[in-house]
Amino acid sequence: MSFDLLAPHYRWMEAVLAGNKLQQCRVHWLDSVRDCRRVLLVGEGNGRFLEACAKAMPLAQFTVVDASIEMLRQAERRWTNAGGNSNRAKFVQATLPGLNLPKESFDLVVTNCFLDCFTPEQLEQVVAEIAACTTDSAVWIVTDFAVPQRGFAKWRAKAVLRAAYMFFRLTTRITALEICPPDASLTAAGFELKGRHEADAGLIYSAKWQRTKRLPRAKHTEAHRHDDNRDTPHEFPKATADLRA
Ligand SMILES: C[S@@+](CC[C@H](N)C(=O)[O-])C[C@H]1O[C@@H](n2cnc3c(N)ncnc32)[C@H](O)[C@@H]1O
Repeated sequence: MSFDLLAPHYRWMEAVLAGNKLQQCRVHWLDSVRDCRRVLLVGEGNGRFLEACAKAMPLAQFTVVDASIEMLRQAERRWTNAGGNSNRAKFVQATLPGLNLPKESFDLVVTNCFLDCFTPEQLEQVVAEIAACTTDSAVWIVTDFAVPQRGFAKWRAKAVLRAAYMFFRLTTRITALEICPPDASLTAAGFELKGRHEADAGLIYSAKWQRTKRLPRAKHTEAHRHDDNRDTPHEFPKATADLRA
């Protein structure tokens, strides 16, 4: 799986296919999480959300994780161009499952159009791994696609998503075949749904979840541990990782 080839085209493709709808969803909850200080962005891609954070959250520290080095380069460029301080952001190239970050550390997690890359089995593991890195009352913002319950919107969403998955499977080799709602995995990881905003007739949504339950440690760390995990976790941002080739 790699989004490297798609990275240079991602921005204009989004503009053509979704206009500004996706970005409006990404930033929908931003005002309500301004006070968070340690932010984890997983599968952040080219950094459009991070760019918005540069201005909205001037005191926060960001850890930006993505498997694609090309996406990370773009995200770092956007961060710098938006005036983001290099001491406040760390860019980590990593593929999940196999996340190796400090446990119980982040008070905000954001996954934008990331959880849709996984099969139901992978999703549970990926959500549990990310959850293990969050504090007791952390907020998790999920922006993604969904299939509405009924009517024309349901069939439209099915057609759009079928085409999208065919495209992404061909170009990036993601393993997911269809959208799988992450709600059950988030609930199992101790999070509770606090609000849901929908756009484009229910095809896109942004949901705000908050951690309300602390699970036994083994449940979300050891039990879901992946073989590729390194022994030493990444530290918090000190300086921007050097992504220049
Ligand atoms: C569909 S793009 C979404 C990018 C951006 N967050 C957005 O809202 O448009 C998915 C992103 O997740 C990254 N990604 C996909 N699978 C991953 C994995 N298993 N581990 C880490 N990153 C992954 C890709 O490299 C890509 O940047």
